[in-house]
Amino acid sequence: MLTPLTELLGCRYPVIQTAMGWVADPALVAATGNAGGFGFLAGAVMTLDEIEKGILDIKSRTDAPFGVNFHMYVPYAEAIVDLCIEHQVRAVSYSRSPSAPSIAKLKAAGIVCIPTVGACKHAVRAVELGADALVVQGGEGGGHTGSVATSILLAQVCEAVSVPVAAAGGFRNGSGLIAALAMGAHGIAMGTRFLLTEESPVPRATKLVYLQTPPEQIVVSNRLDGLPQRMIANGYLARLINASQVGLLMRALRNGLAFTRMTGTSMWAMLRSAWRMRRSGDLSLGQTLMAANAPMMIQEAMVHGHPEDGILPSGQVAGLIDDLPTVEVLVSGIMKEAEATLERLGQHRKPSTIGGTPHDSL
Ligand SMILES: Cc1cc2nc3c(=O)[nH]c(=O)nc-3n(C[C@H](O)[C@H](O)[C@H](O)COP(=O)(O)O)c2cc1C
Repeated sequence: MLTPLTELLGCRYPVIQTAMGWVADPALVAATGNAGGFGFLAGAVMTLDEIEKGILDIKSRTDAPFGVNFHMYVPYAEAIVDLCIEHQVRAVSYSRSPSAPSIAKLKAAGIVCIPTVGACKHAVRAVELGADALVVQGGEGGGHTGSVATSILLAQVCEAVSVPVAAAGGFRNGSGLIAALAMGAHGIAMGTRFLLTEESPVPRATKLVYLQTPPEQIVVSNRLDGLPQRMIANGYLARLINASQVGLLMRALRNGLAFTRMTGTSMWAMLRSAWRMRRSGDLSLGQTLMAANAPMMIQEAMVHGHPEDGILPSGQVAGLIDDLPTVEVLVSGIMKEAEATLERLGQHRKPSTIGGTPHDSL
């Protein structure tokens, strides 16, 4: 299935596996590429060295093109840009735009810039800054998310911009892909569905919690870093909600320190980049200082397999998922179902008779 998005990304199918901290590792990204989709490495929670090793690891597992996701708030964001250019990755994704010169540098090197946006005004701004395509994530999507549902946001963005768009937030199957294409998107991007696959590195105990949670228990909270994030309502989130402001600040400081240790940067460098981010964007200083909170709180469930001791970012779509297929089975199943959906819709166009009158039901 070819669309402007598959042409831009060089993949067989218009199906993107989005970046997820601690989840989108080289094995998952390579499996997605081998299955015909397009995967993004979760560079936002990696050191520079780990990102480079990740890129090389993916290349050793597949010839398929892939991308790297990163966050602007890490002090070595510019070095990540250089790394992506050096290794000629096909695309980069981000949610806060890198500086205009960095975007220009990436584009000059032929790297596709495809940020994720959760609001129409951010989509317009991202295209003005040079985005080649967009992942448009509606409010039902996992992790940081906006307040407008996918069905509304997608329509808004498709009218406002003319670059290829992947619809995200709530997708899991082939009929969803066809629905997105019908609404003007050029493909779908999925996080939660890929988290719930065999290749995903998330420990089984944590995956089982996702499989057992109904959609109404997958809620939005801003207690992590002051920004709305969608996650499973578990005991850890309840403790965050009940914590005092001082308690939250202490936790943010602890996580900030842990993040600097993990990434090998100094607190001072983190503070400087937080300050730069605050000046260039619409985040408060408090929000930028807490930016390291989410990655550290996710780790406990995603890496150590203690789903009650960390946060579980999730799209509401987890409430509709009850299996852990391989990525190959998932992607080929999506494409088969997409074909079947098109055929089913085509049948509505055959003349039928209702009450004896020839009738075209579409
Ligand atoms: C566990 C988890 C971790 C995530 N981490 C990141 C991240 O590091 N960077 C990012 O840009 N988006 C992140 N996201 C958002 C996803 O990339 C994607 O946009 C979202 O999951 C799409 O909605 P869906 O879950 O309904 O498919 C994360 C989502 C989840 C569920």
